[in-house]
Amino acid sequence: MKVAVNPAYEIDIHLSPVSTIDSVDFENLQFGKVFTDHMFEADYLDGKWTNCAIKPLTKLQLHPATSALHYGQAIFEGMKAFKNQEGKATLFRPDANLSRLNESCRRMAIPEVPEELFMNALFNLVRIEQDWIPNTDDGSMYIRPYIFATDDFVGIKPSDTFKLVIFCCPVARYYQKPVRVYMQEEYVRAFPGGTGAVKAAGNYAATMMPLQQIREKGYDQMLWIDGVTHNRLQEIGTMNVFVQIDDTIITIPTDEGTILKGITRDSCIELLKAEGFKVEIRDVTIQELLDAHKTGRLHDAFGTGTAATIAPIGVIGYKDIAYELPPVEGRKASNWLKQEMWSIRKGISADRFGWMWAV
Ligand code: COI
Repeated sequence: MKVAVNPAYEIDIHLSPVSTIDSVDFENLQFGKVFTDHMFEADYLDGKWTNCAIKPLTKLQLHPATSALHYGQAIFEGMKAFKNQEGKATLFRPDANLSRLNESCRRMAIPEVPEELFMNALFNLVRIEQDWIPNTDDGSMYIRPYIFATDDFVGIKPSDTFKLVIFCCPVARYYQKPVRVYMQEEYVRAFPGGTGAVKAAGNYAATMMPLQQIREKGYDQMLWIDGVTHNRLQEIGTMNVFVQIDDTIITIPTDEGTILKGITRDSCIELLKAEGFKVEIRDVTIQELLDAHKTGRLHDAFGTGTAATIAPIGVIGYKDIAYELPPVEGRKASNWLKQEMWSIRKGISADRFGWMWAV
């Protein structure tokens, strides 16, 4: 277990005199709909992060010309806190989230967040909100840091001022059932040189219309296809994708800069390799996937993400056909991963990669 170092950034802490925790049904949480009592807020002004405060959760007051609302200079992260079997609060790989947050900052011309500031904000907030971490089997506290441009300005230039906010939600599973994904070549999520590799708010905005269309056909998410060959699988948007063809578990490389470098994706690759599964990081084409399905060699398919953890894919849609995948119960790789990830987070399996941080 690592413990966060004591940081240099001072945070003003104002605790809420009241809590809404007693009104929450922790056994029936809907993802992203319940919020804890406090939030963290800081401003980037005159070239530095300042006004760091933890305070009661409240609405933000914004100028109508706030530039992020027009031009989308905004990024976010997703991370989770857990209660281990001793009832202690832990965070999963917060260092990896910080490094990805700062990668997103660099791509979007947003000032990076110093480690001391981020860790101080995060650990203090999670310590204050630790009673909100559900003790249920699939519960956790989802943490959403985000940064957006706050210049009151109409015109295209990088903003000089920004706001960093962190808020928390007690959550259960993101997907309640095996996910139904759909592949199409018309709309593209990300292309080389774009922002697909980072967590830019606009990446998600561009997916809403195609998502709306496929939801009308009974699908949950798009399985995005690349915009150069219109033939290679990319990611799901909420998740990275893994497929098992024969005895090989394959996930898509991130080096083209079009796919989010998922922290859960990376953790799954490490765990699978350490357990002796055959793992390949390479492209998969639509045709290869459909052929594998046709010949009974597509044994497993799942998405990985912070919110979704490990989510089995039940159906892959393409054109007018819904390709049903094997029953979830019989799948070896994704079921093992799910169990192992849960055990590490609960402190039952050894934390052999040093992923869990004591809060
Ligand atoms: C996450 O998994 O943390 C994400 O940001 C995906 C989001 C759609 C909930």
